Amino acid sequence: MAQPLHKRGAMIGKRILLIVGGGIAAYKACEMVRLIRKQGADVTCVLTDGGAHFVTAMTLAALSENPVHTTLWDLKNEVEMGHIQLSRQADLIVVCPATADLMARMAAGIADDLATTLLLATDKPVMAVPAMNVRMWQHAATVRNVATLRGSGVTVLNPDEGVMACGEYGPGRLPEPEAVLAAIADRLGATNVAGPLTGKRVLITAGPTHEPIDPVRYIANRSSGKQGFAIAAAAAKAGAQVTLIAGPVTLQTPAGVTRVDVETARQMSAAVDAALPADVAIMVAAVADWRSAGEANQKIKKDGSGQVPPLQLVENPDILATLCKSDRRPPLVIGFAAETNDVLAHAQAKLARKGADWIVANDVATHKMGGEINALHIVSAAGIESLGEMPKDAAAAALVQRIADVLA
Ligand code: C5P
Repeated sequence: MAQPLHKRGAMIGKRILLIVGGGIAAYKACEMVRLIRKQGADVTCVLTDGGAHFVTAMTLAALSENPVHTTLWDLKNEVEMGHIQLSRQADLIVVCPATADLMARMAAGIADDLATTLLLATDKPVMAVPAMNVRMWQHAATVRNVATLRGSGVTVLNPDEGVMACGEYGPGRLPEPEAVLAAIADRLGATNVAGPLTGKRVLITAGPTHEPIDPVRYIANRSSGKQGFAIAAAAAKAGAQVTLIAGPVTLQTPAGVTRVDVETARQMSAAVDAALPADVAIMVAAVADWRSAGEANQKIKKDGSGQVPPLQLVENPDILATLCKSDRRPPLVIGFAAETNDVLAHAQAKLARKGADWIVANDVATHKMGGEINALHIVSAAGIESLGEMPKDAAAAALVQRIADVLA
């Protein structure tokens, strides 16, 4: 969901050199030019040969109101402005979309066209915004190149996950232009780029917790963390300063989000405490209700007698309830309730029991935990709003919109 940009001009006086690589996502570079300029920055575009198959220099020139550079071997350009100067007059170079090939050449220090020559010659910060097929993104060579680039100080954003132009599913989509804009502003140290949650601190827990029984076994649940991560991404896109406390999951950190990894409920509780104060807390994690009473420090052995070991459980701290009672309680506290039956009744009871402002209920009998779709119901003192069935990122965007509405 595109968030309105309320505050204009947060990047006034900044100069961006935008290198547009080849790939279907190149059309989004046009939107990037528009968004950057709305913030008051100047954009000069460099179009690679690959990029020129997807967008034209004319489009970028019209949107940027600057000449577009396409080749190293342009005598007129070279006399008026040499490529070394072009690479150094910007405050930030943004490669968007950054293809696997372009990043490979950047990582290797190859300078065989205008874009790579500028990237090798520059002394300015560089950001790469990858977009490619999921297999290409996950290929060992790309993983290596991204690590090399990050190791040498290039900011490489993580691509979004979703259905790709080629029909495959996974990470590889260009992040939404608003998220790229937020990352650019962040890299430039520009504040107030501007969404409905700008200036708000949002604390989110996500994923399951793992409660050890012994060094090799643990108690867990089926939470994937996807809904919480999607909410973190949506809140960051809306301009919030987001801290995401994540249980053990295998998800990528959304752009612009500060992530703290934890394993157990007690660690999550301590991390929540350390992340305060916040304006909004959204407790999406499926925290294990119980942990083993006595974690064995050696593997519990099956001794052949047929006797099962006694597994004593004790209750974990209730992070949400504790937060609601705390004197540092955020002004808006939102809990989640995954239920298999009597979903709304359980959510209403939980609202009172926990002391939260909203409980967001979802029926995990209909939409199994770990899936891609959710149907959320926002239960509050004002009543119940059912958001309808939708992918988790759309549900996240809708929830973030409701949060922005009540904070406004
Ligand atoms: O009690 P129940 O687990 O159903 O409540 C779910 C809500 O409470 C979620 O928001 C979850 O993150 C939170 N919770 C918690 N600490 C616990 C258990 C649940 O913060 N120990």
